[in-house]
Amino acid sequence: MAMDVFEAMETRRSCRAFLPDPVGEDTILKILQAGTWAPSPLNAQPWEFMIITRGEVKKAIFNEAEERKKWGLEVSGWKWLGAYRVDFLKSVPVIIAVIGDPKKTGLDSFLEEGGVGYQHACAAAIQNMHLAAHALGLGSLWFTLFDRQVIRGVLEIPEEKTPLALICLGKPAKAPPATSRKDVKEKVRFIR
Ligand SMILES: Cc1cc2nc3c(=O)[nH]c(=O)nc-3n(C[C@H](O)[C@H](O)[C@H](O)COP(=O)(O)O)c2cc1C
Repeated sequence: MAMDVFEAMETRRSCRAFLPDPVGEDTILKILQAGTWAPSPLNAQPWEFMIITRGEVKKAIFNEAEERKKWGLEVSGWKWLGAYRVDFLKSVPVIIAVIGDPKKTGLDSFLEEGGVGYQHACAAAIQNMHLAAHALGLGSLWFTLFDRQVIRGVLEIPEEKTPLALICLGKPAKAPPATSRKDVKEKVRFIR
């Protein structure tokens, strides 16, 4: 029996240590298919996926993450960033790049500042993929520590599309650390 959706949401955790075992293409496609069941503005499905397993591309992503970490440390002064390691980017078996199409954003494309609906849709697809990966016993991570222009170059993505996230995917090397959530009651206000 597949994992109950409530159990999947509650027990999924971000994984930052992976075993080198490859992930089968059928499994990857099953996860991507789950992503595409996400809602999107006008059902425009503004996502594309790139499946990265090539070592030298993973290394280029790692290099960019290191650069971005330096930048982050400079602009934020957050000490923990200095201790945050991104070596898993080199060893993770699969990285799925989620690429959004800003034109497929629904009516908000007529806003002067441009639309964000496509980003929301891609985020929904990403979460679906995390839940699917978890239900299949895999670990995953929503990774965004990169400059989009640099990753555009690394993955040869045209200017009119936007790399929004890199999903790291593989068998977890160890159980990801537990995290907690605030009580939902702290986050809610009823308008009756
Ligand atoms: C938009 C977004 C961007 C994120 N970017 C990163 C990232 O660059 N690196 C990372 O290690 N985790 C990243 N995360 C994962 C969060 O750190 C993680 O979800 C949060 O700490 C809660 O932990 P949990 O997912 O294990 O419950 C990101 C999550 C989201 C939603």
